Formats: sequence, structure tokens, C-alpha cells
Amino acid sequence: IEDDWPGEPSDQYWRQQLDQAEEELRQGEWSAASKRAGATQLAGSARARWLLARAADAEAEARRDNRLLTRAITAYLDLLKMNERLTDHKLLQVAHRTLDRIRFRGNYLSAEPVYRLLIRRFPDVPGYYNNLTISFLMANRADLAEQVLKDTLKKWPDDRVALAHHGFVLKTRHNRLEEAVEAFQKALQNDTGPATESRFYYHLGDSLLLLGRYAEAHEVHKRGAAMGYFLSPSQRSLYNVDRLKSRPWWNIEQTPYTKLARALERSWKEILKEGEAAKALYEKEKEGLKERGEWSQLDLFVRGQEIPNRCKRAPVTCSIVRSEVAASGCRRGQVKFSAMEAGTHVRPHVGPTNCRLRMHLGLSNTKDTYIRVDKETRQWQVGKTFMFDDSFEHEVWHNGTGTRLVLIVDVWHPDLTPAERRSLPPI
Ligand code: LMR
Ligand code: MN
Repeated sequence: IEDDWPGEPSDQYWRQQLDQAEEELRQGEWSAASKRAGATQLAGSARARWLLARAADAEAEARRDNRLLTRAITAYLDLLKMNERLTDHKLLQVAHRTLDRIRFRGNYLSAEPVYRLLIRRFPDVPGYYNNLTISFLMANRADLAEQVLKDTLKKWPDDRVALAHHGFVLKTRHNRLEEAVEAFQKALQNDTGPATESRFYYHLGDSLLLLGRYAEAHEVHKRGAAMGYFLSPSQRSLYNVDRLKSRPWWNIEQTPYTKLARALERSWKEILKEGEAAKALYEKEKEGLKERGEWSQLDLFVRGQEIPNRCKRAPVTCSIVRSEVAASGCRRGQVKFSAMEAGTHVRPHVGPTNCRLRMHLGLSNTKDTYIRVDKETRQWQVGKTFMFDDSFEHEVWHNGTGTRLVLIVDVWHPDLTPAERRSLPPI
């Protein structure tokens, strides 16, 4: 039969052992199946290796056990070492399950050998090249992704998925923005094709903003919103809950956070002192958001968790924050001091999610400092709070003197249910 496993034992006894192992696997008797298929006499049998892998895989799934899952993946990879003797059909069957489990485990680099042998067997399928690129990017190895992209685009210069990822690498790794824009534009031409995804519209628009090509950026943002990839042209966060009330500036009195705001305002002098006393711990902003100047921050809470020992440095601030669990427990936000030097300009950008609202408490040197959120620009005042939704485009200027200090407190969007606050993955 064309589609048999290679290395099927010629001996009747061992063939029956494999049949029995297969039956045990069907019955959920994983360790019996595994023991039987693992007999040394069967080392050269692909079917035995398949059954071993399947047994570990099924047990890992039932027990939700990552150690077993790793063992299953190793067993699948072991079977794939026989790839040259596997039929196309069998190779695909094994490879797809292996890749699925590798993705589930989150160990993206171990997908490489699988894609390499798929590419060798099916050299005319760009999808395998592209998925290898994606695995490398997921593993934070843009350097490796870039090499694959070079090979892919040499073979298929117009492949839209490859072009989009190339744009992403050009932008984020090399800051080669003009070239990134060109690649994205080809990939997203006519708003059709397999590369039309929110993140590529986001990065195309962001590249244009970085280049100061605002009118073109706006066109892209309108297209992205029309395609349903953005909540609106100005609200471009990528991790959203759809039904939440959208507005750039919020009146704190109309939220459940009035008590928190008043408590912060009452204690602003102590909060300022705590923020200034910890100056040595501030870290420079490193996301490339500022176009010029100096900007540094001191995190107190990140993703709903205190940075270890941080609150010892800011006890008053932390105790007020802790009085509102929607702030201290906001897993999609932070609590931090933000210090901006005179002459700083933070370019237009958006936050990652619409699930939080951002409260600011002005602490020092707020004169001639400005924040634009969507279409409306406001100013901080020392000892006063305001609140905005940072998933809308915003931009900041410090045209005054001295260090402008503010305390930033993110809170859950009031429309989120308790269940959502518990279950949304952190950002
Ligand atoms: C921002 O969220 O980008 C700014 O509001 C931060 C800041 O310090 O003003
Ligand atoms: Mn921001």
C-alpha cells in the first residue's frame, strides 16, 4: 500500500504488538500503549514512533501537562527524522500535528526543523516559508526571520504575506521607514489579499506618522477603520473589547473613580515628594515614542502587580492606589511616575488596548506642557487629575522649563464586567 508507515516490522508478533498498542491508545490506556510501542525491537518502525508520540500527546492533553507535551513534541520530531521515507500524506499528517503542538506550547524555535523539511519536500509552497518567518518573529528572532524573508521574496517577489512581514522587519529592526512603507503598501494594495491584518495597517500608519507624512497616515487609518481593523481612525489599539464606550477625554465624575481621583489630589504633595525621592530608579523611555527630549518613568504597578519592593519607596502613593482594585489590579495597565524634561515632544501614538482608562495627577512644572488626545488638547495642573483613553491617538509637548512630573494611574474601563477583569490576558 502506498501510504504505509515505513519500517513496519516483518515479524507477525511485532506487527500485532503495534495493532494492540493502537487499540490501547484508542481506549485511552496511554501508558500501556506507550510501553508496548516503545519496545526496542520497534526502534526502526515509524508507526511505533507515531504511537509513542500520540500516547504522550493524548495524555498531555487530558492531564494538561506541559512536561508530557514536551515529550510528545520530541517524539514527533524523532519520527520526522525518518521524513525521507514518509509519503507526502504521512509527512503532512505528522508535521501538522507537530506544528500545532509546538505553537500551543509556545516554543516557536522548535518549529524550524519542521518547516525546513516541509520546504525541502514542497519547495513551491510559499506558505511554509512564511510560517517559518512568523515562527522566528514569535520567538523574537527578527534576524533569522529576515534571512527567510530574503529567500522568500527572491522566489516570490509579490508574495503579500512576505512583503508585509518584510515591512514589519524593516520598520521595527532597521528603522528603514520609506522602504517599510513601500513593502506595506504593496502588501495591502486594494485592501485585499492574505496580508490585510490590523497589525500591518497599524504599522503602515505608524511608519507614515514617523515620517511626518500625516495626510497619508490618516488615509491608511481611515482604510483600516473601514475594514474593521481599528475601532475608528483615531482609536487604533489592537487588543480590544468591542462594546466598550469610546471617547478620548473622560469626565472623572462620570466614572466610578471619583474617590480615587480626590484621594490622589488631596495627597499630591506627598506623592510629589515620593516621586522625587526615587529619582535614581527612573528608567528612560525606550519605545521610541519621543521625537526629541528626555522622558523617563518609574513603574510602581505593571499588569496588576506591584514591582517588588517598589511601594516601600512610595508608600502613600501605593496605599491610595491600592484603595481602588480597578487600579492596582488593572492587568492591562500600569501605575507609574512619568518625568519629562523641557523641550520634549512625544510623537502621535496609541496605547495597545481599549480596556483601560488613564488617569494623570499633575505634580510639577506643568506650565507650557500640553497633551493632545484625538482632537482636543489640554494642560496639566499641579494637584489636579484628568482622565483620557490612551487607545486614542495622543501627543505630548513640554515647551516649559524644569522637569514635568505626573503620576499615571491606569484603571479598568468601567464597562468591563468583573469576569472580564479576571479573565482578559494581561498586557
Ligand atoms: C502618554 O501616555 O504617552 C503620556 O501621556 C505620558 C506622559 O508622561 O505624559
Ligand atoms: Mn502614551
